[in-house]
Amino acid sequence: MIPDSLINLLRDAKRVAVLTGAGVSAESGVPTFRDAQTGLWAKYDPQDLATPQAFMANPELVWNWYAWRRDLAEQVSPNPGHYALAKMEQLVPEFATFTQNVDDLHDQAGSQNITRFHGNLFGVKCFDNHHMIDNWRELPGTPPTCPECGSWLRPDVVWFGEALPENVIDHAVQVVRAADVVFSIGTSSLVMPAAAVPVEAINAGIPVIEINPNATPISEHVALTLRGKSGEVLPALVEAVWGQ
Ligand code: OAD
Repeated sequence: MIPDSLINLLRDAKRVAVLTGAGVSAESGVPTFRDAQTGLWAKYDPQDLATPQAFMANPELVWNWYAWRRDLAEQVSPNPGHYALAKMEQLVPEFATFTQNVDDLHDQAGSQNITRFHGNLFGVKCFDNHHMIDNWRELPGTPPTCPECGSWLRPDVVWFGEALPENVIDHAVQVVRAADVVFSIGTSSLVMPAAAVPVEAINAGIPVIEINPNATPISEHVALTLRGKSGEVLPALVEAVWGQ
């Protein structure tokens, strides 16, 4: 299942960078962003809820949607794919994880060097001034308001049309350009600017390996695609390369 060429490449690799997306958490039971929504939220398109405009139009609706997603994410655990990535970090001299996910499953699995592109589902900040608020559960209101400035509280995630945290993409581009191998795992490669990161690596001639059960816009351009679930492919990869 894992080609010898990849095994040899990884055995010699000193620097490995990984970009992950919602697919990595799918086997933990977190619905991917582009999966159809179920239950209460079936009638909404996530793309119509994850915007500042949607929040301003109906803060209660968007707050409740994120509360539902946070509750879901609180109930799940890392899967073998998350653990395999944490293991790889211990085995490769320089290993960087860049994630578009807003859950904390990479952290829970033990990964250390994580850069979040799209924020953190468990953080709460205010809309106007980005004051980070820890005790929001004790505050009244749906959503509550900021104790410092009175503006609505919102999740500390990046919405469509908003800027990513400062410098994260520049940092990622620097890291992938200096890498021996880059992985793109469980992401549809549709959302910019994150999707540009593996493309930077491809353009720099770095071998990019995609792990995804489905084809994406970068599939034709990567050095190798491993068609399968990350929770199955990644443990098999670690076993094949390092025998653990
Ligand atoms: P998507 O929901 O767009 O894509 C999930 C990808 O995971 C798809 O390509 C699936 O084929 C793949 N997949 C599904 N199950 C898998 C499995 N078990 N193992 C590996 N891959 C699997 O999620 P993202 O690409 O992460 O941003 O979406 C990127 C961003 O779009 C999200 O971070 C979110 C959304 O807009 C913001 O909210 C800003």
